[in-house]
Amino acid sequence: MNEGQDWIYSDIVKDHFLNPRNFLFGDESKFDFDAVGVVGNPICGDQMKMYIKVKNGKIEDIRWKTYGCASAIASTSALSELAKGKTLDEVVNISAKDIDDYLGNLPKHKFHCSVLGHQALADAVKKYRAE
Ligand code: FES
Repeated sequence: MNEGQDWIYSDIVKDHFLNPRNFLFGDESKFDFDAVGVVGNPICGDQMKMYIKVKNGKIEDIRWKTYGCASAIASTSALSELAKGKTLDEVVNISAKDIDDYLGNLPKHKFHCSVLGHQALADAVKKYRAE
């Protein structure tokens, strides 16, 4: 891919940014969750919160919210779709590359944004297991 193309978001990225799946609109009390993970991105200072509802060891439902950029929003939207119905072990093993592949590749300089949702999800799973 040449440098010019690396500035372009794929249609899938744009769709997930403009129509984020499983985004938590409004107050977190509107979602019945079992654990919440929180992470900040030291590169840009953005924050991510991930809320999980667990049933029989699997992610039954999931919500998230962030101050992050378009890439973080699209990446976390994709992650939330990938995580639903998976076991806790499976979701912590979803990689940034899995998310990047799902989205049809983020621009390289925005790849770090895709880590934010994954770290928040891993934190939520860790807190759920500690309960
Ligand atoms: S630049 Fe901060 S999450 Fe993308």
